[in-house]
Amino acid sequence: MALPPNFLDELRARTPLPALIGRKTKVTRSGRQWKACCPFHGEKTPSFYIYDDHFHCFGCGAHGDAIAFVMQAEGASFPEAVERLANEAGLDVPKATPQQAKREAEQRDLHAVLEAAAEAFQRRLRLPEGRAGLDYLLKRGLSEDTIRRFGLGWSGGGRGALAADLKPLGIETRQLVEAGLMREGEGDSPPADLFFNRVMFPIRDRRGRLVSFGGRVLGDGQPKYVNGPETPLFSKRRNLYGIDLARDAAFKQKARVVVAEGYMDVIALHQAGFGGAVAPLGTALTEEQLTELWRMVPEPVLCFDGDGAGTRAAARSAELALPLISTERMLAFVALPAGEDPDSLVKKGGPGAFQALLDSAKPLSGVLFDMLAARHPGATPEARAALKHALEDASAQIADKALGAEYRRLLIDRFYESGRRPREQRAFVPNQGGAWKKGGRAGPPALNLPAPGIDNTQAARERARCLLAITLGHPWLLPEVEEALHQLELPPDSEEAALCAGILGWFSQSETLEAAALQAYLADTAPGPLGWALAPGGAGTRLGAPDAQPAEVSRAWWHFFGFLRGEDALREDFEAAQRDWIAANDAPSQNRMLRLMEALMAQRRGDMDDDDAEPAGAL
Ligand code: UTP
Ligand code: MN
Repeated sequence: MALPPNFLDELRARTPLPALIGRKTKVTRSGRQWKACCPFHGEKTPSFYIYDDHFHCFGCGAHGDAIAFVMQAEGASFPEAVERLANEAGLDVPKATPQQAKREAEQRDLHAVLEAAAEAFQRRLRLPEGRAGLDYLLKRGLSEDTIRRFGLGWSGGGRGALAADLKPLGIETRQLVEAGLMREGEGDSPPADLFFNRVMFPIRDRRGRLVSFGGRVLGDGQPKYVNGPETPLFSKRRNLYGIDLARDAAFKQKARVVVAEGYMDVIALHQAGFGGAVAPLGTALTEEQLTELWRMVPEPVLCFDGDGAGTRAAARSAELALPLISTERMLAFVALPAGEDPDSLVKKGGPGAFQALLDSAKPLSGVLFDMLAARHPGATPEARAALKHALEDASAQIADKALGAEYRRLLIDRFYESGRRPREQRAFVPNQGGAWKKGGRAGPPALNLPAPGIDNTQAARERARCLLAITLGHPWLLPEVEEALHQLELPPDSEEAALCAGILGWFSQSETLEAAALQAYLADTAPGPLGWALAPGGAGTRLGAPDAQPAEVSRAWWHFFGFLRGEDALREDFEAAQRDWIAANDAPSQNRMLRLMEALMAQRRGDMDDDDAEPAGAL
């Protein structure tokens, strides 16, 4: 909006700078001017000077008037800064044209309609009809405080309930349609409710104004979420769920801005102390959303599922960002453990588990290399040349030329490094995570386990046998469990020890992770133990079967391991695994960390006391 210059002059004149700046940093008089420690860079002696109409920092070069100060200190846009200062100065911001004034008045009305709806939804959540919704939210681990903070509500059963709620406020059905709360009826039928029997999530824009809602079914119905349609207030491409809170946290607490996938992730992350969490609104991340993110922080972190779909989504975001990045607009990525979202992760592992992920975030350049290397696999000259071209093309897309040149250098360095590197990463390791690190790493990180004391009792022996039988049926576990197997002190000269040694021996030299190959190898080297391990009816039989679910198999393995270790040792293992995961940042070390965490939690609950081969399932 173009504002008349005399208005801006008056606004500046009515806004005393020392008072404004004094809210952020201690201001003292220095002759005719005022000075302060700069609020924009850390300093102990003041080099930030305040004059009648502008400020200047001789330390970092920050410079500007009152409007610029609000923009820089609070991350406000120009119109927002003007509006905020005008409010405080008791001025009305002039409307540029009557049409514009009219449009803004209409929008204000729509915001008010949505606010009234949000209040009605919140009220209903506390009525008997909303009980199931409230219970659902509480059962998902949200606190009363969180439910209130996010303004979560209950839609009611539809059939005009909302319209009836809002009628006494003078709100008409037509306005509910415009606000995206009802949809036009077909033919002659009246408008119908969009949301019914759903938990309601208010969606706010960057400035905290209500723009739409998402609604979730209780349980497993379809569609899981219904979102409001595009309206004059609401654009899915431009908004991010949680952005109003994240912006505040980014500026006030220097929170990292983290992009998760869903509403529940954002809420769970906030509750766990990650105030910078946001999510797109059911679509892939857009260019507009990236720009919004960069308005808050220079390096937002994007979270993706560790699976194939997540990797592809990460690749799409990397490609989208590439032409847009600069030295102030960067991007980092974290891959979630397979099958987890941030919500489930903090539920299982607490804030520490998510913090560890954040601490191991990968820069865009690393994601880019791995993505292109995966797209052009192989060591033939043709494949290598194709990869090199792809790396060069990617760097050329960066509009910031100096940065593009740096990317090119970095990517090409890695290209040559990858050509020289011996085959230290075996082909079957699912996530070539070690490659993120400079120089790669030589093998799985040491767990550094203290020697476990296995009683030579029959029970302990049974458990060791289960653990070995599972390994035998699922050698793909070995990258994750190798180190732990090494540390198991099985009774010397026992069949268990022979089988364990056989498995480890095979793993150290095998090119595949096929169960059949492992068993063929053991048939020569350890035929005796192989007999009981494969005998039908043993405790390991069911989970040793080839069609057992991988997550269940891995959980069971660590369950037995946990049993053999005892709680104290297990806790140390978990802590060590957490450190290793941060350092190595690959799928096996991540799984190991998560499984140890689960085993530890199961042990604390006492689940280890039962003799059932069934591990504790969901936590
Ligand atoms: P998810 O299926 O991952 O849901 O969808 P979620 O957020 O983890 O929710 P819970 O934990 O199952 O309750 C991620 C996001 O995709 C959009 C929503 O924005 C959701 O938060 N989505 C998903 C839809 O818009 N419609 C759908 O039917 C499903
Ligand atoms: Mn979820």
